[in-house]
Amino acid sequence: MRIAIAGKGGVGKTTISGTICRVLGKKGGKVLAIDGDPNPNLSTVLGIDKDAALPPSLSTDIIERIEEGEGKWRFQVKMPFPEILGTYGQAAPDNITLLVVGKPEQAGTGCMCGSHTVVRELIHSALSSENNASMVVDTEASLEHMKRGTSKHVDKMYTVLEPYYRSLEAAGRFAEMARELGIEHVEAIANKVRNEEEEQAIREYCKKINLPIAVIIPFDDNVRDADLKGMSVMDFDENSKVVKSIEAFVEGMM
Ligand SMILES: Nc1ncnc2c1ncn2[C@@H]1O[C@H](COP(=O)(O)OP(=O)(O)OP(=O)(O)O)[C@@H](O)[C@H]1O
Ligand SMILES: [Mg+2]
Repeated sequence: MRIAIAGKGGVGKTTISGTICRVLGKKGGKVLAIDGDPNPNLSTVLGIDKDAALPPSLSTDIIERIEEGEGKWRFQVKMPFPEILGTYGQAAPDNITLLVVGKPEQAGTGCMCGSHTVVRELIHSALSSENNASMVVDTEASLEHMKRGTSKHVDKMYTVLEPYYRSLEAAGRFAEMARELGIEHVEAIANKVRNEEEEQAIREYCKKINLPIAVIIPFDDNVRDADLKGMSVMDFDENSKVVKSIEAFVEGMM
C-alpha cells in the first residue's frame, strides 16, 4: 500500500503519517516513511531516539540532468532506489525505515536544479520502485511534490482537515488539485474532532463537495503530551484515542 498524506499547515499530517507507519509496522510488514517536509519532524512521531546517529543528508547532487536533444532534457535520480535507502535511510521502531527527502542540501556539482525538483524526483523514485514495503509520504502543504506522474504510484491520497471552516475549504481545494493531478482516490481524514457538532459540520461539508471521509480522529491531549516529551504517541500511550482510531483506519484500508 502506498499513500500520501496532505493538508494545510498544522492539521496533523505528521502525527497521522507517523502513527499510520507505526500501526502498519506492528502488523509485521516492512514500512517506508517518507518525510517530504522542508522542516522534517516525522522522526519524533515515529519514535526514533533523539540521540540516534543521523544518516548523511541527501543533496541536490543525487539528481542529474539528462539532455535529450532539441533543447529538451529531463531529470534523473543517479542511484538505484535500494541504494538510496541503504545510504540515506534511518531505522525506526517496528520495522520502519525513514527517508527524509524534503530538505536536500544544495551541492555545487549537482544538476543545479531547485530543491523542489529533487524532492519530487526522489518521491517519484521511491513510489515507483519495486520495493515491497508499504509507503507513507508526509507531504508539505503544496502538492508540488506529487507532480511528475507520482499519482500513478499512489493508491490513495488523504487530505487531513480540522473542524473549522478555512480548513474544510482548504481540504476541498487539495482534493480538487489531487484529482487534477490524476490521483483518483482522494479521501478526507478529519482530525482533532472534539464533539458531535464538529463531526456533523465536517460530514455536511464533505458531503457537499463529494469528498468521502476515511476516518474521524478525535482530539486527544495525549498527542500534545507526547509532543512535549519529544515522544511518539504510540510509545507514550498505545491505548490513546488517537492510536485506537488510526488502528481502526489502517484495518479498514487493508
Ligand atoms: N488528534 C489530535 N489531537 C490533539 N492534538 C493534535 C492531534 N493531531 C495533531 N495534534 C497537534 O497538532 C499540532 C500539529 O500536528 P502535526 O505537526 O502533526 O501537523 P502537520 O500538519 O504535520 O503540521 P505542519 O504543516 O507544520 O507539518 C501538533 O501540536 C500536534 O500535537
Ligand atoms: Mg508536518
